[in-house]
Order: sequence, then structure tokens, then C-alpha cells
Amino acid sequence: MPEIMKGLKDVYFDNTEASFIDGDVGKLLYRGYSIHDLAEKSTFEEVVYLLLYGELPSQSELTDFDAKLRANRRIPDQVIEVLNLVQNSHPMDALRTGISALSAFDEDVTDNSPEATIRKGIRLTAMGPTLVAAHHRLRQGLEPVAPNPDLNHAGNFLYMLFDEMPDEETVKLLDVDFILHAEHGANASAFGARVAASTLSDLHSAVTTGVGVLKGPWHGGAAEEVMRMALDIGQPENAEEYCRNILDNGGRIMGFGHRVYKAEDPRARHLRERSKALGEKMGQPKWFEILTYLEENVMSKYRDRGIFVNVDFFAGSIYYLLGIPDDLFISIFALGRIPGWTLQCLEQFDDNILIRPLLEYTGGMDLEYTPIESR
Ligand SMILES: CC(C)(COP(=O)(O)OP(=O)(O)OC[C@H]1O[C@@H](n2cnc3c(N)ncnc32)[C@H](O)[C@@H]1OP(=O)(O)O)[C@@H](O)C(=O)NCCC(=O)NCCS
Repeated sequence: MPEIMKGLKDVYFDNTEASFIDGDVGKLLYRGYSIHDLAEKSTFEEVVYLLLYGELPSQSELTDFDAKLRANRRIPDQVIEVLNLVQNSHPMDALRTGISALSAFDEDVTDNSPEATIRKGIRLTAMGPTLVAAHHRLRQGLEPVAPNPDLNHAGNFLYMLFDEMPDEETVKLLDVDFILHAEHGANASAFGARVAASTLSDLHSAVTTGVGVLKGPWHGGAAEEVMRMALDIGQPENAEEYCRNILDNGGRIMGFGHRVYKAEDPRARHLRERSKALGEKMGQPKWFEILTYLEENVMSKYRDRGIFVNVDFFAGSIYYLLGIPDDLFISIFALGRIPGWTLQCLEQFDDNILIRPLLEYTGGMDLEYTPIESR
């Protein structure tokens, strides 16, 4: 009998230079650089450059790269029409459809060379926020807002979403959030993107796959669920009973646990601090109090089983306080992750092998076929 590696847990299937994760101590490096340094000292634009090219940019390289991102934000009118047709879709479904539709207008679509894959990755990174914001406007019966080249990546997204100039602090908050979500090894969506790339399909197909895989609540959907849970709990003193009901019925508390981290997810720290500060600033400290109560008093018992908060736990409260509707939370995760998916595909194309594991068959054997009229 072959050994079944269910869920491919703990299976190494390739090498990578994208990110290093030590789940036992909660360590994460992008291209060798600590996530803490990047979250505190860098910008999303710089991190995208680092991921795609493997090195931190010089000032002039960053200026040129940022200009490229800004110049590629507009999406074709035909794609806006497509988004209008699917305006009732969940924003992640609209993003998946939008990325797929963009392939019709990309001259490099079938070119899987590293140069073309990077060009497409830059375009998809730049256009992603335009897709999400345009769909959100259309579903409210509003006109999409054109990108503003004077704003950085995070600021422009907020501007297109709300049709007003965002303040600096909010822009920085979203910038950090994008950095924290940019790349994370062979997580389910990156694996999905790599499987698509391994067939020598193209980047648009791979990123479309990534969006589809990310959507599930066991992956990117947890931030949305965490905030719904906090709203349901209402007050910190209700948290214990609320969670007990879930756990006693074999359920899971969203925003806790991770396939790789058996210590605290290093990305959570940056969102915890920011969730607290934002709640206080907005005169709504309650959400942070509920979340902290959960972390400190309810789920603390699970720490010796390696279950700690993950990146999604505090993210939802930040988006909520920024006035972002909860069904947009995963799309924000996806926008941050487009460079990571691109890098995973670059690596897959660079030393490709078809990803094609096996399933051990456990069904019936050599059954006699009975004609339909005799069944
Ligand atoms: C992310 C996740 C799917 C990883 O799970 P995994 O590596 O496959 O681990 P398992 O599903 O084998 O879980 C191991 C044990 O921990 C428990 N567990 C894991 N996450 C849990 C959670 N959030 N709440 C309660 N129990 C949890 C499981 O029930 C299981 O218990 P058992 O051994 O008694 O059956 C899982 O932790 C989860 O569902 N978390 C909630 C969703 C979430 O926050 N996702 C975002 C990830 S960034």
C-alpha cells in the first residue's frame, strides 16, 4: 500500500527562492528579507520589485518600476462591460472573471518567457485594484472611478473604491496589509497557480486559478468570517460561550490555526498593533477587545496544540473600521498576493515539471455492467 500524504501535508515538491517559512518559530522571509523589516520599513511597490526581480531596487529602479505600475492601472472598457454583466457576483468571482477577461487584451498572453511573465505580473498587479474597485462601484449603481496616477498603489485603490482622497494613515495601513499578503510559499492558491503553470498554461490562467482557490474560508475567506464572528459576539463577555458552542460542535474558530505555523503567524503582529490603534482612533475599541479576549482567554488553551492567530485574525477588524464591506476582504488579500502568484509561476516555468500526483484507488473492481433496463 502506498503511503498517502493526505492534503500533501509536510510534502516538499520543489525548491524556491521566493519565501522562507519556519512554522515552528513563526519566521517569514521574502527573498531572504524579514517580513518585519519589510512591513515596518518598506512599501508594497518595493516589495513587488523585490519579489519579481529578486533584489531590493535602487531609488531610480524603484521610481521607474512604480511609474510602470501607475501607467498600467487602466482596464479596457470591454472589461468594465464584463464586470457590469457580473455585478451581482461575489467580488472574488468578479475578480476571477475580470482577470480572465483581461487575457483577451494582453498581447503577451501566450508568452511564458520570464520577461513576458514579469510584464504580465506587473500589469495584473496594477490592474487588480481597478477591477475590484470598478466592480464594487458598478454593483452600487455608480460609475467606476478612473485610476489616479498621483497616488501610490494602496492610495489609488482606496480612491477608486470610495471616490475620495484617502488620508495618509489609511494608505499606510493598506500598504502594510498588501506587503503582509504578498507571498507565502506553497499555500493552496499558489500551489493551484503552479499546477496551472506546470501544464504550460499562461499567467492569466494561473492567477485566475489562484483567485478561485483563495476564495475558500479555510484559506483567504477567514478575515471575512472573523469579523462576522466579532459582530455576532457583540461584547467581550459573550465570546467564551459563543466559541464554546462552535468548538463543542466540532467547529473551528476562524483566524486561528495554520497548516505551516505552529507558533504565532509573524504577520499577525503588525495587524494586531494596527487594529488596536485604529479602533482607538475611530472610537470603536470594542472589536479589538473582543478579538483580544478570544485570543487571550478562549483560544489560549489551544496554544500547546500549535493553534495561534493567523494573518486573517486582525485583518477583518481593520477593513471593517475602514468602512470596507466584508465581502471585499478576500479580494484585498488577492490583490496583495498577485505578485506572489506571479513569482511562483516564474519559478515553475523556469524549471518545469508537470505537477501530477497520484490517488490510491479504493473503489469497486471489475464490476459487471448491468444494462439500464435491468437495474
Ligand atoms: C488553516 C487550517 C485549515 C489549517 O489546518 P490543518 O493544518 O489542516 O490542520 P488540521 O485541519 O489537521 O487541524 C489540526 C487540529 O487542530 C484543530 N484546529 C485547527 N484549526 C482550528 C481552529 N481554527 N479552531 C479550532 N480548532 C482548530 C482541528 O480541529 C484539528 O483537531 P483534531 O486533531 O482534534 O481533529 C485550520 O487551522 C483552519 O481551518 N483554520 C481556520 C480557518 C483560517 O483561519 N484560515 C486562514 C488560514 S491563514
